[in-house]
Amino acid sequence: MRSVLVTGGAGFIGANLVLELQNRYPDAWIVVVDDFRSGHFSNLEGFRGDCIASNVAELRLSERFRDGTFDAIFHLASITDTTDHDQLRQVRDNVESFRMLLNWASRDQTPVVYASSAATYGKAQSVMTEATDASPQNVYAFSKVQLDNLARYYHQQHPAWKIVGLRYFNVYGPREAHKGHASSMIFQLFQQMAAGKRPRIFTDGEQRRDFVYVKDVVAATLAALMAPDSRIYNIGSGASASFNQIVAGLNKALGTQLEPDYFENPYPFYQNFTEADISLARKELEYQPAFDLDRGIHDYVDWLQKERSS
Ligand SMILES: NC(=O)c1ccc[n+]([C@@H]2O[C@H](COP(=O)([O-])OP(=O)(O)OC[C@H]3O[C@@H](n4cnc5c(N)ncnc54)[C@H](O)[C@@H]3O)[C@@H](O)[C@H]2O)c1
Repeated sequence: MRSVLVTGGAGFIGANLVLELQNRYPDAWIVVVDDFRSGHFSNLEGFRGDCIASNVAELRLSERFRDGTFDAIFHLASITDTTDHDQLRQVRDNVESFRMLLNWASRDQTPVVYASSAATYGKAQSVMTEATDASPQNVYAFSKVQLDNLARYYHQQHPAWKIVGLRYFNVYGPREAHKGHASSMIFQLFQQMAAGKRPRIFTDGEQRRDFVYVKDVVAATLAALMAPDSRIYNIGSGASASFNQIVAGLNKALGTQLEPDYFENPYPFYQNFTEADISLARKELEYQPAFDLDRGIHDYVDWLQKERSS
């Protein structure tokens, strides 16, 4: 790997990916494109590559990168606040960024790995496979369905070109604090509980989600380059956990005994159940999540406590 482009590299998953790329390929030239609408420069502490501050949709990619090519492109830039219901902004910025990128990358057919989302499945009742129909419940999810549609279209036009979509489930881990109310439930509950407050969760805490640790997500994202063809893969932990279980896990890691403080869920479009079938990623990408919920929470709480004391 000599040169890599990462869009959204100042964000949560993007920054973890960039730092791991740098670690694995110390001599590679890594270029981040991010307009910092939700990302934060502090996520990139220790980064030795280039950073272009721009909206991907507005960057003149062929001019900017006239002299060089990349070995791989990871496209993670996106509005990530699912409660942003501005339809024009979500669809225009998320979809046009991807369209511009694919138009430009089609020239060299550089392998592209892009972030889709479990949100595309909407309110499914059972384990989600990649074949489960899309049922977007908000405009963020709709924009991700459009990314999957575009990827399929470009693949049809260029069958030899590898464009791999990853439907991330609920990702948690280091470098997500900048996301505020859009950060993971695990981070938000940690903050409340570490301050000695009762964790506030939706009544009755039995909603279940597939929580996946960012270190596993980064490993899967890099492994996606090994995909045998253009495909979409679920990237979760392969198990769901209830919000009550998260509270129990945090109590264990923090040595506290705080009881949940339940309140009514105000979101009508909420996904009360997600669980990824990850058999395709296991088989084709050799994806093997190393962090179950307990291990992930412990690793993360250790990191958060070190951050707090530094
Ligand atoms: N975190 C999760 O649980 C999760 C779940 C499913 C999918 N995803 C997807 O993974 C990707 C990364 O998400 P994240 O959790 O790291 O969120 P994030 O908000 O931390 O990262 C997104 C980054 O993209 C940048 N950005 C947004 N729109 C841009 C644009 N048009 N041009 C340039 N930069 C832009 C932001 O400034 C930010 O740095 C996103 O595509 C997101 O939709 C995340």
